Amino acid sequence: MEYGGSTLSEQLVMRKATNGIHNLLNGDIRFHFINGDSVQRLRDIPTNAVDCCITSPPYWAQRRYEGDSSLGNEKDWAEYVNRLINIFSEVKRVLKPEGSFWLNIGDTYDDKNLVGIPWRVCFALQDNGWILRNDNIWNKLKGGPCNSKDKLRNNHEHVFHFVKQKKYYFDVDSIRNPPKEAQKRGDTIVTPTGVSGSKYRRQILESKNLNDGEKKAALRALESTIHRISEGTLVDFRMVIRGEQRATHSDSTEYSGRANELRTKGYCILPYHPKGSKPSDVWNILPEDRARKDEHFAVFPEELCILPIKATSPVNGIVLDPFSGTGTAILAALKLGRRGIGIDSSERYINHANYRIVQHLDSTAE
Ligand SMILES: C[S@@+](CC[C@H](N)C(=O)[O-])C[C@H]1O[C@@H](n2cnc3c(N)ncnc32)[C@H](O)[C@@H]1O
Repeated sequence: MEYGGSTLSEQLVMRKATNGIHNLLNGDIRFHFINGDSVQRLRDIPTNAVDCCITSPPYWAQRRYEGDSSLGNEKDWAEYVNRLINIFSEVKRVLKPEGSFWLNIGDTYDDKNLVGIPWRVCFALQDNGWILRNDNIWNKLKGGPCNSKDKLRNNHEHVFHFVKQKKYYFDVDSIRNPPKEAQKRGDTIVTPTGVSGSKYRRQILESKNLNDGEKKAALRALESTIHRISEGTLVDFRMVIRGEQRATHSDSTEYSGRANELRTKGYCILPYHPKGSKPSDVWNILPEDRARKDEHFAVFPEELCILPIKATSPVNGIVLDPFSGTGTAILAALKLGRRGIGIDSSERYINHANYRIVQHLDSTAE
């Protein structure tokens, strides 16, 4: 197998690490933590071995972690961005062609000026050939207090989703919000999002933009859709009626099939997906704020890892976190039936992550 380049002394240091990785790739072990600088230690991992990488590197100029190689203390942001890009080039090498890379990264003020670190890193990654699929916003719901009198409280972070190629592994059904059931209110059936059809019916009957034939056809389509809801063969829907609602993406018939349908028939029915709606790119997740024995101040919540792992790593696939800290992503991977590799420059965090996972495995052992 092909490895990243390294000197002889580095080869000696990595022996133990590579055995662990081989054992993990063979399926003999389910998780493996490596202590060291991630740019070096990623070279222990063979090319195209990992299904999904999810990570949160140290933010620039926020806190000092243990170890000489610790990231985030560079004198300017450009150097920080360069270091990250080098590390993520190794991530790209070890990621399978159909793999995904999820990057949680926050911003920093420099002399009162918000630097825009997440986007600077993001643009550099795009220049490096990564394809950006989503800029997910992690809404932290309740942030810390902010004493500044001339700006708003910062309460979000980015979780960028990158891929290596246009076709990639994405199990959308595994992350859908399961549909709720329609409710019966008297004789009326109401969809989970509150649609009974009475507003659409009135709009069709009173419409000055539909002729009689179009009105009849629109009413027939509406009644048959409501019938499907009551039978349980459709979970929810929206209706677009000429002159009432806008065709969602564009009014231009050149670009939008929906606008075309609206022009020719006077209405269209938009059925919801039977397996439920897709999650949006705004994630409401409370930060991990328990006082922790490990004294790690920048742990991400396990919930943040669930969607990325479910959607972009198959069961038994390999999840990588090159800044694994207390091992949250690896723990989430194991809980979801995947395998995990973590790298961290702090020996203390590596020990803690191992302990945390062994504790979890003990507690779930039969
Ligand atoms: C934001 S924390 C990650 C926390 C982790 N997501 C968790 O849930 O515990 C960043 C981690 O990167 C580690 N680190 C800093 N520089 C590093 C480097 N050059 N190579 C590997 N790890 C590094 C730090 O020790 C720290 O644990």
